[in-house]
Amino acid sequence: MTVKINFDEQHQIFHLTNQKISYILGIEEGQLLAQLYFGKKITSYHNSRRYPRLDRGFSPNLAGQPAEIDRGFSKDVLPQEYSGNQTGDYRQTAINLTDDVNGASAADFRYADFKIVSGKPHLKGLPQTYIEKRDEAQTLIIHLIDATLRTSLYLSYTIYDQRAVIIKSAKLVNNSDRIIRIDKIASAQLDLPKNNCDLISLYGAHVNERQIQKNELPFGITEISSRRGSSSHHFNPFIALVDKHISETSGEAIGVQLVYSGNHQFTIEKDYIQQLRIITGINEYGFNWQLAPTAEFQTPEVIFAYTDKGLNDLSLTYHKLLRERVARGKFKYAKRPIVINNWEATYFDFNATKIKAIIDKAAPLGIEMFVLDDGWFGKRDDDKSSLGDWYEYVDKLSDGGGLANLAKMVHKKNMQFGLWFEPEMISADSKLYRQHPDYALTIDNREMTPSRDQYVLDFSRDEVVDNIFNQICQILDTVKIDYIKWDMNRHLTEVYSHALNNTQQGEVYHRYMLGVYDLAERLVTKYPDILFEGCSGGGGRFDAGMLYYFPQSWTSDNTDPIARLKIQYGTSLAYPLSSMTAHVSASPNHQTGRQTSLAMRAGVAFAGVLGYELDLSKLTDDELKTIAMQIAFYQKHWQLLQYGDFKRIKSPFEENEVAWEFVSANQEEVMLFNYRILSEAQPSFSITKLTGLKDNYLYQETTTHHQYYGDELMNVGLYDAPVAKQDFTVTIKHFKKIK
Ligand code: GLA
Repeated sequence: MTVKINFDEQHQIFHLTNQKISYILGIEEGQLLAQLYFGKKITSYHNSRRYPRLDRGFSPNLAGQPAEIDRGFSKDVLPQEYSGNQTGDYRQTAINLTDDVNGASAADFRYADFKIVSGKPHLKGLPQTYIEKRDEAQTLIIHLIDATLRTSLYLSYTIYDQRAVIIKSAKLVNNSDRIIRIDKIASAQLDLPKNNCDLISLYGAHVNERQIQKNELPFGITEISSRRGSSSHHFNPFIALVDKHISETSGEAIGVQLVYSGNHQFTIEKDYIQQLRIITGINEYGFNWQLAPTAEFQTPEVIFAYTDKGLNDLSLTYHKLLRERVARGKFKYAKRPIVINNWEATYFDFNATKIKAIIDKAAPLGIEMFVLDDGWFGKRDDDKSSLGDWYEYVDKLSDGGGLANLAKMVHKKNMQFGLWFEPEMISADSKLYRQHPDYALTIDNREMTPSRDQYVLDFSRDEVVDNIFNQICQILDTVKIDYIKWDMNRHLTEVYSHALNNTQQGEVYHRYMLGVYDLAERLVTKYPDILFEGCSGGGGRFDAGMLYYFPQSWTSDNTDPIARLKIQYGTSLAYPLSSMTAHVSASPNHQTGRQTSLAMRAGVAFAGVLGYELDLSKLTDDELKTIAMQIAFYQKHWQLLQYGDFKRIKSPFEENEVAWEFVSANQEEVMLFNYRILSEAQPSFSITKLTGLKDNYLYQETTTHHQYYGDELMNVGLYDAPVAKQDFTVTIKHFKKIK
């Protein structure tokens, strides 16, 4: 094991290190916990680089007797680990507390003691990274105290063997006899010395998720956040601080990924001397928490990753960690089934006959699962009713003898059966709402704000979560279901719970999330054989938090392959390909109206977990034959496509040509995808240089039998010439090492 956490007693320095990284923090004057270094592994830190002392106007000093006050030392500039409000640091702080008795808002935590534990303690009720062997990680827990508030703060730092990541979180414990109000409690802070890096973040919208933006950081505060009650399509809970000239294969970067699916906040502050402060955690917007005497509050955790080898390496670090130590259950390394989903084929307008026609076509093609999407429950014929009524809509499939019979029919065809749910929602037109209007998030004497004609259940309440759990179990215990798509089709408004008192309404956003996690945990525990797919109007809750429960997620409601090039490329910055589902849908595409070939649609959907989402009964025999061939191809290569190392080569955000590549762990097999978006009369012949191969391996392209050494493919490269005079084309090349 290479992981170690050292405490240098003499210099009061903690050094967390493994073969790749070092994270160093120390105890400064006044017992302040200072950040010293995060980056490439170093052997040892001698503490000769002390933070320089300089008297800076208007940056206050630590309290003391007049003769003792050091005017050159200020919290306002010192790189720290976790700063508090109102006590001398004017930058964004990690924690803001208010004393409930006198109303004073201030927090000032000073170092008390520490412990080092092998492995990683489990966080109750939250998604998290985990260990499989005790000796694969160590955790440092630093205890700090605010003496006035008699409150303890425990900062946790986990370092794994081999992985270039540090996992941080914070826990607050109220040791006083009074209530302490938490106005803000971040998962972590990372202060960096003056640094000219850029910020990468993933912005987007419904049907346009995870677009990449790279910006220069201005003086002041830049914020990436969600106030929607969900991690959202709009800003993903991931950022990276990168060298100005970062490329996929070179340059330094620090990634910051929150393991949380609710309101998040990333503030990146460039202070007046160009130092950087990154704070992330639950968004302080709409948040406060009454921490009763003896009670504790545990924050979600955040994954900091480091690379000096470019963005692709950073992504691979996240891909592996998320795949191996965030995703759980029997599907985490399993072959994911190729589904046919009826949503874009029928929308709400289906009956058993229509569904059967699709399944009859799907089975001989090699499709492995049928997923019945929205519309099978309550009295649901459109999106205006029935959410909350999770019992069969008997009339809907009556021509085929109902849901259980449909499931039987699917299983008889040797296919699996999946079903859509939207557990967190309620329609005003539902039995559940008529019985329990207070189950919805609503404020008395205020209108409810509709979105997609639906409302949000108050998942901060146990009885609401229990009700939905029982209803879902009722279905799962009577119909044989192999897969569940868990959707969430609107964001939160009127965030008020009728079960909490007036001082606790600031807890609802987070308690809601805890309720979602609780339901997910109960379901995945009770039904370990069911594969869950997360979804939120496409990829609206695509985050490491949901991945802990659901190993895959619907990437976007936009199934147009050209739009998907960007969406999947952007998603791959932070998330593994095994978590991204991608479907071949009809042309013209329902979201963009664009017409593309079946080859192009599959060529993009191969890069992830492949599925189909169109009315197979309307396709020609030739089209069906093509699909059968696509499925045979995917069956042969799923291991490489779902779990191989994903390498981005040419970006759709920059060029007309896009390229990406999959490399097997032993580097003996490679799949290269080249896409050309628009056709040109005078096309350039650009070159694609592969990456991640072994210099001296001899690779053979499996169709042409052309041979190349690894260093040849990586340095000389291959021409990326047009394959046809048309827009939207793809070529796929498969290489294997020859013995
Ligand atoms: C969301 C999902 C879609 C589909 C519909 C059904 O938009 O992302 O895939 O399930 O809901 O209403």
